[in-house]
Amino acid sequence: MTRADLVAMAQRTLAHARAGTAPLAESVVEVPTRTYVDPNQWALEMDRIWRRVPLVLAPSVALPEAGSYVALDVAEVPVLLSRGADGEVRAFVNSCAHRGAIVMEEGHGIARRFTCPYHGWSYDQDGALGGILDREAFGEIEVDCHGLTALPCEERAGFVWGSLDPQAELDLDAWLLGYDDVLDHLGLAGCHLVGRQEVAGPNWKVAYDGYLDFYHLPILHKDSFGPDYSNKACYDAWGPHQRLLQPDDRVIAALDTMPEDDWTDEKLTGGVWTVFPGISVASFDVGGRMFMVSVLSPGSAVGSSRTVQYFLAPFVPDEEQQRAIDKRIEFLLGVVRDEDYATGLRIQRALATGAKDHVLFGRNEAGGQRFHEWVEALVGADDAAALASVVATADVVHQP
Ligand SMILES: [Fe+2]
Repeated sequence: MTRADLVAMAQRTLAHARAGTAPLAESVVEVPTRTYVDPNQWALEMDRIWRRVPLVLAPSVALPEAGSYVALDVAEVPVLLSRGADGEVRAFVNSCAHRGAIVMEEGHGIARRFTCPYHGWSYDQDGALGGILDREAFGEIEVDCHGLTALPCEERAGFVWGSLDPQAELDLDAWLLGYDDVLDHLGLAGCHLVGRQEVAGPNWKVAYDGYLDFYHLPILHKDSFGPDYSNKACYDAWGPHQRLLQPDDRVIAALDTMPEDDWTDEKLTGGVWTVFPGISVASFDVGGRMFMVSVLSPGSAVGSSRTVQYFLAPFVPDEEQQRAIDKRIEFLLGVVRDEDYATGLRIQRALATGAKDHVLFGRNEAGGQRFHEWVEALVGADDAAALASVVATADVVHQP
């Protein structure tokens, strides 16, 4: 079924390549500048998007073995991910039951237990309170009720999904509309982590607009990877989640003379795969395939964001391959930090002046149009029922 979807997308792309065409949205869309600079809008996005909808918290390979943990901030919530002895990944609010201290400093590694740096209370890999310092002197408490606060969490398609709302029900089927089955063809679950870096950026939507945009590739990236890239994109959407593929993608073009049986998953899954509201997966050739999984989330105020980039490869690199990978990662850091986000930070400064009332998304920028429609709809959903009805409108839409 999902292979058939991938083949259909490739055939659509081949038809465009042969005809020299690209799909276009119906009209040019105006997005109010306010959406990028207004602190009230930002607070609503934090509550009604980031702390409410299912999120990708990390790729699964960031927790490669039993005992692996990752401590990270997601939309200002300190989160602790832990892979237990049973192989299950669990997510918690990274805050001690005693007086709320952050238990594990941001980072990753292997830990048998999590010990709070304030008074030494400790927690098991499954979040249960395991140790209270000077227990008798402290006094009686219900130990079972004082574990780390669990967050809904599930692994699918090589990602750890979760919600920052402890009460939320993680209904991934309704949220993903089968997109997880398509993503599964990328093979991220079987990959190895070969690198990681972090980049500071502008407002999360300014940054994310860039991930949904091929229009800028040969211009902004003319001195790095972009000069020979096409600036056109076909967009496929599963609700708010979108895949971008160039209508003249070279790998797809090569399928034209190849029997369909030889169209491997690798050949069919090029382009950029995004997961709303902050994930982008792109792939690069390092003498084998390497994925760049960007995990973007808002920073501490309207004008800032942070992006953790995980690099994954479907092979265990030897020393020489790792050197090539490190070199490519350094190059990509230059692209993202010095080209994309440096531009984004300047956009942020310019929009904050209020000189422009709105910005524009052209007919060739259907992905950005869809992204902002979804942001607006979710921010406008002021209770659970309204959220459910927004999610119920989600549809799978392939550009023709
Ligand atoms: Fe870019």
